[in-house]
Amino acid sequence: MRRRRSSAWVRDLVAQTVVTPADLILPIFICEGKGQGGIIAPRMSVDGVVTAAKEARALGVCAVMLFPVIDDTRKTEDGRHCADADNVLCRAVAEVKSAVPDIGVICDVALDPYTTHGQDGIFRDGRVINDETVDMLQRQAVTLAASGCDIVAPSDMMDGRIGAIRTAMDGSGAQHVMILSYAAKYASSLYGPFRDNVGSAACLGAADKLSYQMDPRNSCEALDEVTLDIAEGADMLMIKPATAYLDILYRTSQATNLPVFTYHVSGEYMMLKEAAKQGYLDFDKAYMEVLQSCKRAGARAIVTYGAMDVARSL
Ligand code: PBG
Repeated sequence: MRRRRSSAWVRDLVAQTVVTPADLILPIFICEGKGQGGIIAPRMSVDGVVTAAKEARALGVCAVMLFPVIDDTRKTEDGRHCADADNVLCRAVAEVKSAVPDIGVICDVALDPYTTHGQDGIFRDGRVINDETVDMLQRQAVTLAASGCDIVAPSDMMDGRIGAIRTAMDGSGAQHVMILSYAAKYASSLYGPFRDNVGSAACLGAADKLSYQMDPRNSCEALDEVTLDIAEGADMLMIKPATAYLDILYRTSQATNLPVFTYHVSGEYMMLKEAAKQGYLDFDKAYMEVLQSCKRAGARAIVTYGAMDVARSL
């Protein structure tokens, strides 16, 4: 076994997986007006997003994933601002697509940045209402598609939303727009820095998302979610989070020929950053090892906050 590990060239020659910039998807946060602050990543102005997308493409990154930070004054119980064609996300999508047409633009479909309660759906009488939420998600997806978004990525975990969004987009001339389904998204406690950055943490308070995001104790259910989303018309699938759910990523990638992506989420990224800051590990090495583990488990691409740094070093 050791002969093939004896020098760098033979290790490279027999390496089974490789991480390249084309494997990485860069998440970007956009806010109204000037860029301001940011915990896990900067909250950028629309101009800032265009510059970042240009730089990402030049480094070989194929796609960006855009998340809006919505002013509190625009948030409502039903999150209807998600379907306004002139909201900050739609404006950013249009600007990026006109300035950097050869980068893929992916947008999350879920209501949490737009709701006063921070839930991903319409919340009434103590529960998130499935079908009314799906109606709103259809409007959100159609609006994003019209603004030039290439891939809509429903991350809400409502039942039936993939088929409904496919139908709505097909009916509005957006047959070409792809759906990346967060098929198995777990009710994880690793989303904290993201929620702070988007501004949904304060709205959510002590509430949780356990009635729609998956129970971390379960795995078979993830494959049922995958089967349904494929049947409903998903073009690509996402497993989220990444490192604590590599078994789900592996099983999914074995079970389907569709491309399966994973999202290395904000809490996973911050754990590495903070541990490195304490001197417990070398960030670049540990981070690359984590990305390699995702590829080994079958991820075709990885959404990750360090995409630019890795692309630069590669
Ligand atoms: C919203 C959404 C979340 C993330 C991506 N889209 C948060 C949540 O579900 O509460 C988390 C990503 C991260 O932590 O990096 N639907």
